[in-house]
Amino acid sequence: MKTAATLFALIGSAAAAGMAELKQRKMEAWAAQNEAGVFDVDRYAAQAATACVNGKAGEYQCKNVDMVSFLRHQDMGSTTRKGNDIWGWTSSTGREFAAVGQTDGTAFVEIKSDGSLVYLGRLPTQTTSSSWRDMKVIGNHVYIGSEASNHGLQVFDMTKLLTLTGSPPKTFSITSDLTARFTGFGSSHNIVAHEETKMIYAVGTATSAGCSGGLFMVNVTNPAKPTTAGCLSAGGYVHDAQCVIYKGPDTRYTGKEICFNFNEDTLDIVDVTKKSAPVTLSSTAYNGASYTHQGWLVDESMRYLLLDDELDEQNKKGVAANQRTTTYIVNVSSLTAPKFTGTYQSPAKSIDHNQYVKNGLSYQANYGSGLRIINVKSVASDPTGKGITEVGYFDCYPEDDSVGGRAEFTGTWSVYPYFKSGYIVLNSIERGVYSLKYTGPA
Ligand SMILES: *[C@@H]1O[C@H](CO)[C@@H](O)[C@H](O)[C@H]1NC(C)=O
Ligand SMILES: *[C@@H]1O[C@H](CO)[C@@H](O)[C@H](O)[C@H]1NC(C)=O
Repeated sequence: MKTAATLFALIGSAAAAGMAELKQRKMEAWAAQNEAGVFDVDRYAAQAATACVNGKAGEYQCKNVDMVSFLRHQDMGSTTRKGNDIWGWTSSTGREFAAVGQTDGTAFVEIKSDGSLVYLGRLPTQTTSSSWRDMKVIGNHVYIGSEASNHGLQVFDMTKLLTLTGSPPKTFSITSDLTARFTGFGSSHNIVAHEETKMIYAVGTATSAGCSGGLFMVNVTNPAKPTTAGCLSAGGYVHDAQCVIYKGPDTRYTGKEICFNFNEDTLDIVDVTKKSAPVTLSSTAYNGASYTHQGWLVDESMRYLLLDDELDEQNKKGVAANQRTTTYIVNVSSLTAPKFTGTYQSPAKSIDHNQYVKNGLSYQANYGSGLRIINVKSVASDPTGKGITEVGYFDCYPEDDSVGGRAEFTGTWSVYPYFKSGYIVLNSIERGVYSLKYTGPA
């Protein structure tokens, strides 16, 4: 946990990796890539569907994951041609769409029943371009934030996509096509959505928003009228979170709204039931902590959680000293006294970024080693992580394959694995968006 005061003290100091240092490292890395022409027009070729055969799908290393469709950022209206976050939306009749983050806006694609991607149109950035754009969906609306100065929260109605065919693609207006724009904060780093309570938690908001970068709570019960509901600033900067209505083993909190916050150097668990007076239940550090980034509960029983640290591999800290992507396992059976019980290490060297669990498989977007799918069903009986196995992967960043991977900020940013059809959408920073199909064991 970092208080606002210590956070300020850390900025510019070498004491710990705060957001300022992390952003600096990434901006330097991406500026060098930009110089090298990585985001140039036609740098990448359009690609057709390619099955994974003998460990390769075209130029990509793979296992049990087919490439069903691919669209380059330049084919989705982006002039910066650089991707970031992604999330999905399913219509009432079962049609599947993705909001694909790019530095200059959000592209909308439909995932057709054969898995192919159709670019429908885009919503430009509200202000300037930024490497950070993040989106989540509640009901029929997507909520989009960005580190771009004064961006605020764009609220866009995904049902507007239902009548589009993609020819020609439509550029939506950042004024007349928005359901609302929430300006209670300007920039934000990340958007957390809790569908059950219709709450958006913007994290990493600018200092001027007055919430120390913690959970900035926005009530979106009425998407056309988002309202500020509260703020959790006690733990300082929050990088990401998962919020749930609690039904785990700690019966003291049954039915409460609990957020698991990834707080730069700790896992913080907070009770946000009362928005005006959130309560921090615990703040837990761990060996190897370098930049506590994101994580997800293993299953509905809410006993274990997977956590990824974004800088342990590059900093060669703790278990991650060998730079193989390291996932931490936490026993959260007690919300006031969680315990780190073990780690899983990927065979690949890379940094981890975002992971989401579905039916016992964690879909990890691990930068330079791409999508890694791991079976985490064993965690409930063996929380050391020894029983976790990799069941599939699709490495969307071939450039580092010859050296066995690198702990760098290149490759994939995020993944959305929750479509009923089973198609997985993966957003790559350099290339574009992939529609993938996992063919391995359930
Ligand atoms: C959210 O707003 C709705 C009205 O749109 C209100 O009924 C509800 O109490 C609010 N919830 C919170 C937690 O503020
Ligand atoms: C998990 O935590 C709970 C609560 O602290 C404890 O009772 C249980 O023994 C722990 N399980 C393991 C496998 O460490």
